[in-house]
Amino acid sequence: MKRLIALLTTVVVTAVSSAFSSTDATAEESHHDNVLITYFSRAGENYSVGIIDRGNTDLLAEIVAEETGGELFRIETVREYPSAYDEMLTVATEERTNKERPELKTSIENFGSYDVIFVGYPIWWGDMPMAMYSFLESYDWDGKTIIPFNTHEGSGQANTVTIIKGICEGAEIMSGFSVRGSVAQNEGESARAIVQNWLDNNNFNKIAEKKVVHYTMQDIRNLQDFLLGRPTEEDLSGKPYDLTGDERWDVFDLCLMKKAYINDTQTVDATSSATITTDQSAVLETYERFEQAMIDKDIDTLNDLVTADKTFTHMSGKVQTKEQFFGEIEDGTLNYYPYKLNSPVVTVDGDTALLTGSTTLEAKVYGASGTWTLKTNQHFVKQDGKWLLTDK
Ligand SMILES: Cc1cc2nc3c(=O)[nH]c(=O)nc-3n(C[C@H](O)[C@H](O)[C@H](O)COP(=O)(O)O)c2cc1C
Repeated sequence: MKRLIALLTTVVVTAVSSAFSSTDATAEESHHDNVLITYFSRAGENYSVGIIDRGNTDLLAEIVAEETGGELFRIETVREYPSAYDEMLTVATEERTNKERPELKTSIENFGSYDVIFVGYPIWWGDMPMAMYSFLESYDWDGKTIIPFNTHEGSGQANTVTIIKGICEGAEIMSGFSVRGSVAQNEGESARAIVQNWLDNNNFNKIAEKKVVHYTMQDIRNLQDFLLGRPTEEDLSGKPYDLTGDERWDVFDLCLMKKAYINDTQTVDATSSATITTDQSAVLETYERFEQAMIDKDIDTLNDLVTADKTFTHMSGKVQTKEQFFGEIEDGTLNYYPYKLNSPVVTVDGDTALLTGSTTLEAKVYGASGTWTLKTNQHFVKQDGKWLLTDK
């Protein structure tokens, strides 16, 4: 069941991104907030490199962070490991023989906010250090994408990827990559090339992006309107962007899409701020008037509040002109209902502005009633002193 949910999440995000790609759905390209690089590494005396200030895996992890834009997290044990190589070999043997789980002194905050997690470690006795078992067994990996990477002096990955698969239930484990410790330590550019090659060959940006697609409230509305419009069985069936995989576009897909939206939190509340500017206030007012006009089917007001070239995107990806869209509101194909915009945040930049916020929506769709919180993301432009809704 866990696995099914994990798969479903991936399907939701991918499917929605293709169905709504012509709207505001955006993906981060260079910096990925949802990518974490975890690693265990030991400095001191080591095979082939002598006495080192920074461990080989540590240096490799830094390269991975630079190349992916992810955050670094160092796995550290309460116990300090000996610096001398021979002593370390003995300690590692003991830990392994006794199947120890060394106590860790660091833990990941906001684990839930990471979708793609690199897991880095050296090879010790043909395996991961036991601290990696402590680490991997401490988290619920369901739905995560794990990319293993390691340093070694001849063993490559050994059997570690299979072991990680066994521990991290519900995660998608990628092939990962290996670098010789001495290369990571002394030939940084060669190590970097190995990392870059792996990222390129595995379409890393796609892996990270598919997990951070954002949606607009318009996307939700498009799907909702389709369902509220009492589609025929023929309309419902066989949709390529079906989310639940039953080849039927129904209320369950809508629920999944909404769930996928509810992620981010607001940081600034423009309405409660004493310093709200005239422009921010005007943008909010324009938005609220537009929403009310949709509910009231007040086409003149709708026309008055949008730019001449504003388009509206349907769930199928079909882009409508404002005339077409407003026409469907007028003739009852599309119907909107009241809801409240929570914690609106207006960011004004010269003559453009972005309104973000969330709405609590009560709806009854095919007998299923519920209250949902949705994200809003609407762009505005100021023309002749008046704020208008516009495409991005
Ligand atoms: C206790 C211990 C056991 C090791 N066992 C292996 C091994 O079985 N195979 C291998 O290729 N390298 C082995 N190595 C070498 C390390 O994997 C290699 O030096 C690695 O780059 C160390 O990474 P670090 O500096 O990040 O700790 C071992 C090193 C240590 C300290």
